[in-house]
Amino acid sequence: MQLFDQAFIGDFLLRYLHILVGITWIGLLYYFNLVQVPALAAYGDEGKARMITLDKVARRALWWFRWAAIATLGTGLLITGIVENYWSRSGDAHKYTISIGMILGTLMAANVWMIIWKNQKVVLANAVNVIGGAAADPAAAGAGRKALLASRQNFIFSFSMLWFMVGPAHFYPAAFPDATSSNAMTLLIIALVLIAILQINALGLLGGTAATNKLLWPYESHKNAMITGGILWLILWVASEVLLK
Ligand code: HEM
Repeated sequence: MQLFDQAFIGDFLLRYLHILVGITWIGLLYYFNLVQVPALAAYGDEGKARMITLDKVARRALWWFRWAAIATLGTGLLITGIVENYWSRSGDAHKYTISIGMILGTLMAANVWMIIWKNQKVVLANAVNVIGGAAADPAAAGAGRKALLASRQNFIFSFSMLWFMVGPAHFYPAAFPDATSSNAMTLLIIALVLIAILQINALGLLGGTAATNKLLWPYESHKNAMITGGILWLILWVASEVLLK
């Protein structure tokens, strides 16, 4: 029976599960960024309706979102642990490019748990209080803002993350058969520097989290985030073509 075959589990079953929970996570990330945040802004003066939506809809969406993130991280790491000689059997173009995908995915999972969920707990507790007639928590708006910045940062990262999940097996080795270890390492370093700058900026460490901070332009609307995510992806693709050819 194939079910207990190590190659079947490592090469196929875990990948299948990984993609299943991955689309659950990123699907909800896109729901938050493209649907829920703009929809709640469009509620206008309907403050109570907004609180009910947060309590009844966002709370449920966030549950699936954060556990799917853990499941994606877990299955992703298991692939590298269970596939025999995962790191030594793959070529340089694969090794370094999947590392970019894994670093992006892991950072995104950390953003989910350490920033988005941490701050959304404050927002959700405030929603329950306000619905019950209690005074609003003055810290809720600031917490919501921090969660929004991290969520849009993950939206920005997601395009390149998926590129470097699928590319290492299905594009890079065939497109760049002559890539050397040092060129692939240079690509990884360029990616790390760009990722670090964006992440530090999204934390508000380059000038605060206020809407007046011009450096936060990428996070001020989902359109800005989409443009920034597209530019990051384009830079990394062009860098791949230039460095690995
Ligand atoms: C959270 C951290 C993540 C880690 C550590 C991780 C790790 C991995 C690894 C090791 C592979 C195997 C790549 C290969 O050997 O070629 C992979 C493949 C893949 N991952 Fe992830 N991943 C993560 C997040 C995600 C997310 C969020 C998605 C979104 C849907 C995703 C989608 C995929 C896809 C589509 C593949 C390609 C499978 C294939 O073509 O064989 N991953 N990932």
